[in-house]
Amino acid sequence: MNRIDVHAHLLPGLDDGCRTMEESMACARLLVEAGYSHIFCTPHIWPNLPENRPAEIAQRTVELQVALNMEGIELKVFPGGEINLRPDTMRTDPDDLVSYGMNGHYCLIDLWAQTLPDFFEPAVRWMQSLGLTVVLAHPERMRAIQDEPDEADRIGGMGVLLQGNLHCLVDPPGSMTRRRAEEFLRQGKYFMLGSDLHHLENLPPRMAGLRRAIELVGEDEVDRLTMENPAKLLGIK
Ligand SMILES: [Fe+2]
Repeated sequence: MNRIDVHAHLLPGLDDGCRTMEESMACARLLVEAGYSHIFCTPHIWPNLPENRPAEIAQRTVELQVALNMEGIELKVFPGGEINLRPDTMRTDPDDLVSYGMNGHYCLIDLWAQTLPDFFEPAVRWMQSLGLTVVLAHPERMRAIQDEPDEADRIGGMGVLLQGNLHCLVDPPGSMTRRRAEEFLRQGKYFMLGSDLHHLENLPPRMAGLRRAIELVGEDEVDRLTMENPAKLLGIK
């Protein structure tokens, strides 16, 4: 097994990610060249995208796999989703909660807030009560954590794992996203790193972020964050 991407908007036409199957294929080729063998497709779960539910995402992932196989691209794709945490998240039917591999073990959430909202902890606790390990996407991009990096530890104390975005490691030097991403990477705070790919045109800098991660913390640590830990999402805790 090579690297596993844990955050990718690779399914065509489901959200603001890849627009066509051709774009998905081109991104897939580039990921394979960069050393990836497995990808979790994590479309946005937003109220304005009501069709992004477990069965639909799983079906679209199968269709993508068929297309990859027909093109001879050696990539295995798995369903997932990026759940935007909202005040009403706790009213979601548990059967509609997307998880990595739709296997009910780990789920990916995102949140955009200046400060951590009051619903954050109850929503996380509710997901955990359903047996899910919650992974927070790109904390380095959240204003609440940029301003108060100790919040990352408080969130970690709740049992939430952190997923860093590769792109942030090649953001302009001195930018808040890059500073926090480098800091968290060096401090070993990430559980895994993902590309968060959306489009072909900005996939190359995301792969440059992978090389930058290796420069910063070495191959072994990057293997832990892009192979060893992501393998746990495949079903075995
Ligand atoms: Fe994303």
